[in-house]
Amino acid sequence: KSIDAIFKSLGKLYFGTCADSGSLGKADNADVIKADFGQVTPENSGKWDTVEATQGKFNFAGLDTLVNWAQTNNKLVRGHTTVWYSQLPSWVSAIKDKATLTAVIEKHVTTEISRYAGKVLQWDVVNEMFDESGGLRVSVFSSVLGEDFVRIAFEAARKADPAAKLFINDYNTVEKGSTYAKTTGMISHVKKWVDAGVPIDGIGAQAHLMAGEAKNVAASLAALCAVVSQCALTEVDIVNAAPAEYVEVAKACVDIANCVGVTVWGVRDPDSWRASNNPLLFNSAYATKPAYAALVQTI
Ligand code: XIL
Repeated sequence: KSIDAIFKSLGKLYFGTCADSGSLGKADNADVIKADFGQVTPENSGKWDTVEATQGKFNFAGLDTLVNWAQTNNKLVRGHTTVWYSQLPSWVSAIKDKATLTAVIEKHVTTEISRYAGKVLQWDVVNEMFDESGGLRVSVFSSVLGEDFVRIAFEAARKADPAAKLFINDYNTVEKGSTYAKTTGMISHVKKWVDAGVPIDGIGAQAHLMAGEAKNVAASLAALCAVVSQCALTEVDIVNAAPAEYVEVAKACVDIANCVGVTVWGVRDPDSWRASNNPLLFNSAYATKPAYAALVQTI
């Protein structure tokens, strides 16, 4: 049985990976995704600098490829990501007034999300908006609009695809323990926004882990999941991919009723954005590593 099949048998929706046209175009890589994973996240093709590098000129070539591949191969899609301070074109960062930035966010979110309405399970509407002390990261979005950019983005996203579950996604939220300032800051902000009617359905925890951090995931994730209707581990990779640590991380999601799935950030170590850390489940020959075997045996 694949880890995706095992996750589904435990009531989860998927066990997934990131991908894009390049990796899907490699037959060996695509075969692994078809066999072992149930969900794909666009690694880069959904980001602002790809989708709207020039104001009002949209490029969906890469994202269309990924979504079409997912539909053909019966895989779920996590949309990633509409509002993020990084991989953001300079024309957006240069905006200084509220009315312009509001209109720009609304058009970007609406255009991207409505294009795939009904085909995407979840969207990372806002990515990495908190700083390590749990406050708002300094970005053009927070500097010009304060926290209102969150409401603006999520309301546009809800209108654009009422069926999609709308996520707020971040890193360093499950690594350091449930009392870490960024974790508690995210929890209190999201709770406040949900209570105020901002249409946030879920929290995504990226989980780009260093060795030794897996033990902190269960309690941190439980605290995050408690304030939203859904949650997920969205970009998992673990330095050196210790099998017991992978099991501990995956089990954290399995054990939380509203954690819907786990996504690892890539298939093969050499294709990882942290390639030198060998953090994934398949080796350079597309063979399963011990961590994959441990997941299948233990979960
Ligand atoms: C990374 C990609 O994997 C790289 O290919 C790219 O050069 C930089 O971005 N948090 C996120 C992801 O939300 O989008 C990032 O992906 C990794 C960190």
